[in-house]
Amino acid sequence: MRMILIGPPGAGKGTQAANLVQTYSIPHISTGDMLRTAVKQGTELGKQADVFMKAGNLVPDELVIAMVIERIGQADCDSGFMLDGFPRTRPQAVALDAALETAGAALDAVVLIEVPDAMITERITGRRSDPQTGDIYHLTFRPPPAEVADRLVQRKDDTAEACANRLAKYHKDTAPVVPFYEETGKLVRVDGVGTPAEVQLRIVAALQAVNNQAAN
Ligand code: AP5
Repeated sequence: MRMILIGPPGAGKGTQAANLVQTYSIPHISTGDMLRTAVKQGTELGKQADVFMKAGNLVPDELVIAMVIERIGQADCDSGFMLDGFPRTRPQAVALDAALETAGAALDAVVLIEVPDAMITERITGRRSDPQTGDIYHLTFRPPPAEVADRLVQRKDDTAEACANRLAKYHKDTAPVVPFYEETGKLVRVDGVGTPAEVQLRIVAALQAVNNQAAN
């Protein structure tokens, strides 16, 4: 299964991916996580990306495309992968298409998780993550257990100001990726409002429908 999760910041891509990759036994490739690791490690890529990420701006296409193409070429991606947060611009989608075509591979599905803008700020500013396990919590919607509460961290780009910028960038740069995939017939829209478990059921049902369609 080769699939993409797209949606606005805070739509629940990371939350959903954590379970879906287990269901489908595929690696989870989150460009946000890869870039945050590069920043933390102080690599050349991390130094270049940091300034864009802090402000909630997109990291330049050429940097992200090279990072992802290299990653999906690794052996653990031979039988599939889940891309989370990529592609985020039309040039990124075109580059991914070209790389897959060269490799003789094809995408199975692109899942768009839809959440109204009005809900995004609350989700983003209340998010906390566990640096030890990578688990994602929310102070209200998914409260952390007491034993991990002290070690949780808040992302630098999870301020209300950076969130507003990320949302604006989503509408300007990433929304045009939706018609790109709609034309291929691979795009499925999933309502991202509801509990994470409810959203998960909708995604699994949508992927099942895509698989059935492909089999017929
Ligand atoms: P990235 O890390 O990809 O951030 P994002 O797309 O803005 O998405 P988020 O991680 O903020 O949200 P999510 O949808 O994963 O939601 P989550 O599950 O955590 O990218 C960060 C930055 O890196 C970008 O701004 C950019 O600078 C750079 N970058 C990354 N990829 C790039 C690319 N391709 N090109 C250029 N630059 C790139 O959930 C959010 C919160 O809501 C959590 O607290 C969670 O517990 C809660 N929640 C989840 N689901 C529900 C639910 N159903 N109900 C209630 N609460 C929920």
